[in-house]
Formats: sequence, structure tokens, C-alpha cells
Amino acid sequence: MTSVPEITDPADAEAETELAVLSAVAHGNGPNGLTVVQAALVALGRLDQEHAMVHFQLIWSGLREPMRRALEALVMERQTEDEATFPQAAATVERIVPKRVEELQMFEYSPVWPHGRLRIAFPEIFFVIGTNKTQHDGVEIQTSRTMVVVREDGALTLLNTVRLTEEALRDLEGLGEVRNVVRLGAFHGRDDPFYRDRYGATLWALPGAEHVDGRGPDRELASGGAFPVRTGEVFVFSSARFSEAAVLLHHEGGILITCDAVQNWTHIDEFFSPQCGELFAEQGLIRAANIPSTWRLACHPSVDDFRRLLALPFRHLIGAHGEPLRDEAHALLQARTDEVFSA
Ligand SMILES: [Fe+2]
Repeated sequence: MTSVPEITDPADAEAETELAVLSAVAHGNGPNGLTVVQAALVALGRLDQEHAMVHFQLIWSGLREPMRRALEALVMERQTEDEATFPQAAATVERIVPKRVEELQMFEYSPVWPHGRLRIAFPEIFFVIGTNKTQHDGVEIQTSRTMVVVREDGALTLLNTVRLTEEALRDLEGLGEVRNVVRLGAFHGRDDPFYRDRYGATLWALPGAEHVDGRGPDRELASGGAFPVRTGEVFVFSSARFSEAAVLLHHEGGILITCDAVQNWTHIDEFFSPQCGELFAEQGLIRAANIPSTWRLACHPSVDDFRRLLALPFRHLIGAHGEPLRDEAHALLQARTDEVFSA
């Protein structure tokens, strides 16, 4: 690909459309990426829409973030400016890009895997435990994960999402209207696009988190910043190498909702594969209020984050793994913190 010339001049691109497309594919993510892609798009404007679309798809599929976002921003900008200042071709591009963006949003969702029933954890706070499957070093890992649903004024906020069956979605819809999806941790979020699209939900996430479908969040989470539930206070593990947040709900003496930083598997539930259950038990991952070695190895958190966390008033916890932990969450997390960080 590196032998393909970098075509930055729209006139050159128009003269050799095919080469301009190849140039955009080869150099679209490079330092002159936006100029190269713009030149190619001008050239596409000379083609009929069907051919322009095919070529556009080729260019778009080769682009990565932040180029995709830059291109979307460029198109949005053109739509609000005086069209006459742009080549006539831009009009075609403007029709193509939003359509393509829409199509890309129809990427394949993560499938529905077995899960349990939606249960009440606390008044207005629900949870469901379901299966998760990942690959690690070529080995299939099957464990469980927990979604939290918070209801406020009939609006539902989902944290650590788990895709549910159609039947269970009807139960969820019976609780209220799904309005928000909150992505807390870097290693979760595979089911966020499903809920976002199905319910037109607002996605809240930390800046810098990568999303499986490439779309950024609608709202950014920040320490002490805005949160869709009035009583929610956002906490950020600022030292973690991969983004990780938690939320304190000022309900019931304080309910801390975590993702991977604090997990609460106290037994091997039915969603684990037998092999993984055994492996996780051996690795010390099945214990209350655990700050798991797996997450620590990946994220290298500092004890300061846990000290700040423990300064918050909470007594209960629901993490992305395991059952809700009642009453003892603060005391147990204090003990785990002392244990883990004094070693
Ligand atoms: Fe996890």
C-alpha cells in the first residue's frame, strides 16, 4: 500500500478517480489523511451515486478513529455552511456520508447468551446476571456478568449492560423506559450499542473509552460530573491504565456500583463454564468485594484511588461480576484494599 501515491490535490484526484480512492485507503489514516480523503471525495462527486457509494464504502472501511470522526465533523460543518463555497461534488458527499454512517451503525450486535431473571436488589434498583464469553490467549473464557438497572421517575439507566432475550426485554420495558446506558469500565460495553439503538438511549462513558461499534458516547462521565440519576455521584479510578469508573448512589446508606475494579463473585454461578469456574476459584477470583488480580495486572491502579473511594459513604455494592453485596461492602473493601496494597 505504501507505493500508492498520496493524492492531496482534488484536481489530480478528479483526473484519476480510482487512484484517488486507493490513495485514500492507503493514506487515509496518515498525517495528511483528511486532505487525502477530501480529495478522493471530491473525485467521487463526479461519479453517479451508486458508484460513488461503492468507492466511499471502500474508503470508509479503511478509516479508523479519529479520522472517521473528523470526516463526520467535516460533513456536518459543510451542511451548516454556505454550500456555494464548496465544490458541487460536496453535495453528493453530504448525501453519502450520513447514509454510510447509518449503515455502519448496523454492525453485528453481540448475541444473547443465557441469563437469569431481572431481580430487585434495592428499591428502584434491579439487577440481572448473565453469561459472558471472551477469548484470552486463544482460550475461551466463559464467566458471568451483572447488569444493574436504576429507575428514577419511570426512566431506566442501565449500567454494565447484558443483552437480554426478547421475553426479558419485555420485563425490562415493564419497569420503565430505557433512557440511559452507562459504560463504566474499559473491558465491558459489548452490549451498549444494542440498547442504545433499540431504545435510542443516551450513552454515558469516560472519554477515551473505545466502543465496539466505533461510535463515541453522547455524554462524557467525569469525576463528580453529570450523571443521569440525580442521586448518582461519579467516581473515576484516575490511576487505572484502562478507563474505569464507579458510581455512588445515595440510596439506602450508599450503594456503590462498580465494573471490574471491585467484583463480588462469592460462588461459581451457573453461567460459568465448569473449567472457568475451577480456574477462577484457583486464581482467587471468587471472593467478596474482591479487587481482582486480573484487573490490577491490566490497570496498575494506585492505592490512592481506593483511599478516595473508601472516603465515600457506601455500605452496599453491585459490581459487574457477582451478586449484590449488602451492608458489609465498605468494611470488606477496606480489608481488601489493606491486603492488596500492603503486599
Ligand atoms: Fe469484567
